[in-house]
Amino acid sequence: MSRKIALITGGGDCPGINAFLAAAVRRGGGEYGAEFIGVRNAYAGLASENLEEYLVPLTADSVIGLENRSSTILESSRFNPFTEENKAGGYPEKILGNLKKLGVDGILGTGGNDTILSARRFEERGLPTVMAPKSIDNDVSGTDVMLGFRTAIIFGAQAARSTADSARAHRRISLVEVMGRHAGWLALEIGVASGADLITIPERPVNLTEFCARVERLYRERHYVNIVIAEGTSIPYDDPVINTTREKSAVVRALMEETPELDTFGNPKLGGISQILRRVLRIELGLKKIEEVRTTDLGFTLRGLPPSAEDIILGTRFGIKAADILLGENRSGMMVGINGLEIEEVTFEEALKPKTVNRPDRELQALGVFVSSAN
Ligand code: F6P
Repeated sequence: MSRKIALITGGGDCPGINAFLAAAVRRGGGEYGAEFIGVRNAYAGLASENLEEYLVPLTADSVIGLENRSSTILESSRFNPFTEENKAGGYPEKILGNLKKLGVDGILGTGGNDTILSARRFEERGLPTVMAPKSIDNDVSGTDVMLGFRTAIIFGAQAARSTADSARAHRRISLVEVMGRHAGWLALEIGVASGADLITIPERPVNLTEFCARVERLYRERHYVNIVIAEGTSIPYDDPVINTTREKSAVVRALMEETPELDTFGNPKLGGISQILRRVLRIELGLKKIEEVRTTDLGFTLRGLPPSAEDIILGTRFGIKAADILLGENRSGMMVGINGLEIEEVTFEEALKPKTVNRPDRELQALGVFVSSAN
């Protein structure tokens, strides 16, 4: 009897996910005769009372050309079935019950830390699952890169360089903000690839007095500055510069008073740090016009991009390996990853270890990362 596999894509969307889906369906159907059903909105779709509305049958014919498409055709969600509230509401059982009704034997999916954590919990409850890592943040361990990261770097670097070139023509300071909640990989690589003068990352809190002094020197000498900022960049809470800026700028007051909302995994909804830094720089450098500091938030621009050739190849290799493990070897409870040139399997436990920028200060400084001397 042919096996039935559900496909899900959880967490933030990014380039390369569709290539994974296409390859898993082709390999799983062609080599192992499996049947595939896509489920929209990941665990939220699987938990739905109207499950039928979330189902997308996928066949070798229907996935032709899919690898080239941006984002995920299965849509996504950050629904966490294992919050205390959702556990009390019986959501994990609801999902397992729905999968049973559908006759599903296992799951192939893409996700970041949070979706992989849910996959592990379901695996422990007897639902065979193999995952592939995706996130432009590149923050899952056990793999050199995750789907989406390479595409985001290519486009992000172009966009940041273009912004810097314009800043040079107008003698401005350019602040380009990119995602990266806890990990600064995206800011680091986009910064280096776009020739940034300064890069800020969540792993190195920014002392604003030192930061402003550095920017001021560069601006006086060269009349423009190219700065790339991770959204998760942190400023010491008691930084005196922030207090001055807060007094002088109503925008900064408002932004700082806003407590970030949290998603169901407890992650803060970030974005907007460059708006604060813009005002900090204007005030501290005594600039006449706010337009001397311009901000560009690349945020979601980097998530919905069409995949680069590298991400198509990675998604395809991940899809083949995941299907081989689940359907060819009847094994599950792991993630696929790439290390060097090899596609390998990685335990969920290993995958879930934090992967932040862990290079020595000296190396980071040489690359342009701002490291406060007080760190
Ligand atoms: O996928 C991770 C990420 O890219 C983070 O860097 C960012 O903070 C988050 O997604 C925002 O995602 P959303 O608003 O779609 O939940």
